[in-house]
Amino acid sequence: MKKIAVCNQKGGVGKTATAINLTAGLSLAEKNVLLIDIDPQANSTSGLGVDYKTLEKSIYDCLYEPDLVRETILKTKWPRISIVPSTTDLAGAEIELVDKDDREGKLKKVLSLIDFDYDFGIIDCPPSLGLLTVNALVACDSVIIPIQCEYYALEGLEKLLKTLKAVKNGLNSNLVIEGILLTMYDARLNLAKDVVEDIQAHFPEVVFKTVIPRSVRIAESPSYGNSVIHYSIVSSGAQAYLNLTRELLNHA
Ligand SMILES: Nc1ncnc2c1ncn2[C@@H]1O[C@H](COP(=O)(O)OP(=O)(O)OP(=O)(O)O)[C@@H](O)[C@H]1O
Ligand SMILES: [Mg+2]
Repeated sequence: MKKIAVCNQKGGVGKTATAINLTAGLSLAEKNVLLIDIDPQANSTSGLGVDYKTLEKSIYDCLYEPDLVRETILKTKWPRISIVPSTTDLAGAEIELVDKDDREGKLKKVLSLIDFDYDFGIIDCPPSLGLLTVNALVACDSVIIPIQCEYYALEGLEKLLKTLKAVKNGLNSNLVIEGILLTMYDARLNLAKDVVEDIQAHFPEVVFKTVIPRSVRIAESPSYGNSVIHYSIVSSGAQAYLNLTRELLNHA
């Protein structure tokens, strides 16, 4: 299983949209995909139509008892998509794990038990650089960093890159950046064009060529418990996420 964390401590930049739609895109490429929701907001979970209030088990239980992972995984209505769901209880883990042994390695342990069951594991991170995100960075092979095409786009990026470096030097020497992904691009705004050029100039090697447009269909699809690819495959948003999927598959 190739494990990719979708990570940026900045809120609302398109992490969850990217995690869900990359999962959907990979499944259409006939890959078996596990979406791992490690955000207490549980947006990936509800975005795939799972009601987190009715769950018996979630990622929260698995962090304490990794052996529970197989019973926690839910199949979805799509044949190649499964999910390790999250619940709001997970917010407590951020504090409760602090004094536990190997507190940064819990998710890695969980995923190691099912490493041969899936082709890809996509981890949707919370908007912080706390212990849950560090668990994702230790467990993954690579990171996708979504960046919103707006004025404060680069704010916080330096801190994120520092964190990635620290994890690579200490806890996960194989960690690489899969790519920086520009999201919510609005072609009518000169500012958005400037941000794209600026980031492409700063990080020429690591920016995905695919840019995700601002799209009403992407924004409304979670309320139908759907990826935008399943909800409206002809939309610009769905086509962009399919292009991203192709680009990612070409990396391997
Ligand atoms: N390309 C897009 N075009 C329009 N709306 C989008 C797009 N991508 C995401 N959105 C919407 O913007 C909001 C934030 O996106 P999303 O939830 O994916 O960000 P996030 O980084 O996961 O947020 P958080 O940090 O809270 O987890 C959501 O309402 C989502 O539906
Ligand atoms: Mg999110």
